[in-house]
Amino acid sequence: MEEVEKLLHKGVSRRSFLKKTGVGLGVAAGALMFGTGIAGAQAQGGVVSESPLPYVELDPEEARLRAHAAYFRAGCAYSTFYAIVSMLRDKVGGPYNQIPLRMLGYGRGGAASWGTLCGTLNGAGAAINLVAPDADVNKILGDLIGWYTITPFPSQESNDVAVANGYKYDAKAPISIALPQSTSNSPLCHASVASWIKVSGFTASAPERAERCGRLCGDVAYKAVMMLNAWKAGTFTATFKVSDETAGCLSCHGDQQVGKMSCTSCHTPH
Ligand code: HEC
Ligand code: HEC
Repeated sequence: MEEVEKLLHKGVSRRSFLKKTGVGLGVAAGALMFGTGIAGAQAQGGVVSESPLPYVELDPEEARLRAHAAYFRAGCAYSTFYAIVSMLRDKVGGPYNQIPLRMLGYGRGGAASWGTLCGTLNGAGAAINLVAPDADVNKILGDLIGWYTITPFPSQESNDVAVANGYKYDAKAPISIALPQSTSNSPLCHASVASWIKVSGFTASAPERAERCGRLCGDVAYKAVMMLNAWKAGTFTATFKVSDETAGCLSCHGDQQVGKMSCTSCHTPH
């Protein structure tokens, strides 16, 4: 938790980052390669394994805090990837020390601000893909995406954490408040942000909008860790089902398009 406190207040300083990863301290290549992690998890001969990396149970509340803080450093996709992989670095080490935490940065704003897949899902998906075999990735990530489309964000929990921790997202109005919630009905950044703007009345460039996305990062990191913990324990079952309306459209148009997004978020029913 001390680490999380540091993140919340300062972000990761370059010095502590270097210390943590061992880079720049002149450690021998061997020590870098074999680290201190779980036996068998290390990169052998300098090439990182193509097999899923070891996963251990993580603390979802810590993931929430890390992702929220990380959003303000390098955006939404970075935040969820960072939250999960940095915790695995702490608990497993080994190959996780070799994975650049900045890797998912491109996903911000729905990929280079194009408003496509919400970066939180992109970042969490990359982390899930690191630890789970292909067949399970679709199940876990598919369910995470489905959950995202029907859940009001930011959650009550993220609002409560923000108020309790006194998140000061606007220097001119340094009082934390519970932010309004919206449900996107879509995994797209564009729809998610626009529907929140519509509900809340804040603009895209408002600090409250950034804070809303920060809390959303916390929510998705939390949920992804809950799902991964259940998967690791062998108790995960996918629960998301497309709406009856979408299922109806798919019954006739299943072969003319790809996807499970709510059809009527773009098409008019006929
Ligand atoms: C009972 C079958 C059936 C269902 C259910 C159905 N459609 Fe269609 N849809 C058709 C047919 C037939 C056409 C016209 C021929 C074609 O383009 O395939 C069509 C055309 C379309 C088109 C092409 C553009 C257009 O208007 O011609 C879109 C887009 C579309 N449907 C979307 C939807 C959506 C969204 C839903 C669910 C809300 C839906 N459809 C439900 C049968 C269906
Ligand atoms: C993010 C917006 C979006 C969503 C969500 C979406 N579509 Fe589309 N759809 C498009 C666009 C854009 C096109 C291509 C342009 C066009 O022909 O309208 C298209 C094309 C289609 C076409 C071919 C239309 C034609 O004229 O032949 C069908 C059929 C269709 N969509 C069905 C669906 C169904 C069924 C769903 C839900 C499972 C769905 N779409 C969800 C945006 C969307």
